[in-house]
Amino acid sequence: MRVLITGANRGIGRALLDGLDARGDRVTGTARGADAGPGWLRVDVADPASVAAMGRAFGEEPLDLLVCNAGVYPDKGQRLADGYPAGLWAETFAVNVTGVFLSVQALLPALARRRGKVAILSSRMGSQALAPGGSLIYRASKAAALNLGRNLAAELAPEGIAVGIYHPGWVRTAMGGAAADLDPAVAAAGLMARFDALSLATTGCFEDHAGRAILL
Ligand SMILES: NC(=O)c1ccc[n+]([C@@H]2O[C@H](COP(=O)([O-])OP(=O)(O)OC[C@H]3O[C@@H](n4cnc5c(N)ncnc54)[C@H](OP(=O)(O)O)[C@@H]3O)[C@@H](O)[C@H]2O)c1
Repeated sequence: MRVLITGANRGIGRALLDGLDARGDRVTGTARGADAGPGWLRVDVADPASVAAMGRAFGEEPLDLLVCNAGVYPDKGQRLADGYPAGLWAETFAVNVTGVFLSVQALLPALARRRGKVAILSSRMGSQALAPGGSLIYRASKAAALNLGRNLAAELAPEGIAVGIYHPGWVRTAMGGAAADLDPAVAAAGLMARFDALSLATTGCFEDHAGRAILL
């Protein structure tokens, strides 16, 4: 399977790259920094020119699976009274929402060549039903990523492209923190099974690494 993963230099993206690579899939990772090694694409998903260049650099190959994994969570611990500055909203949405859209748009020709699949890493924190307050920017951005994924699922179904939206679990990464439940390799193994199971029959699904449906 030919796969591209955004933000694959560390965390869940890295674990996915390693897991897919180990089972024989051909995976291209993207990184925005110097850790983009040989064969990697250097991409900042918040920069439209950079994402368009990713589409061109991927070339004429067919793509079986695009994993929109790159994400940020910069408003952890912000207070409603004096936090959540406008710049943080813009920065977060540029990566977590616009970055997902631009990545899909740039790789649509490659996905269409194979009737490929799109996997979007949202979060349980993007659920409308489970809305306890706190982390208002991150929650809104992941809700928007979920909404984007479900609308793309409808738009892309006639082209044979399935779109799944996922919560990876609470994972021990820089974002998830040391107290999180899951090792990245365990989350990645679960997500890989979810991506394999994704089809036009299940397009638009919102589920966790173990396949449990999450309330919208
Ligand atoms: N960890 C969890 O418990 C958890 C739970 C729910 C959802 N998620 C979601 O899962 C995904 C991966 O999370 P993680 O825990 O692995 O996070 P992480 O360890 O913080 O890694 C984030 C990755 O995204 C990349 N990234 C950030 N901004 C970018 C940009 N503008 N352009 C390109 N790449 C960018 C980072 O690259 P740099 O190294 O350059 O910063 C890094 O590779 C995210 O979408 C996150 O919201 C995570």
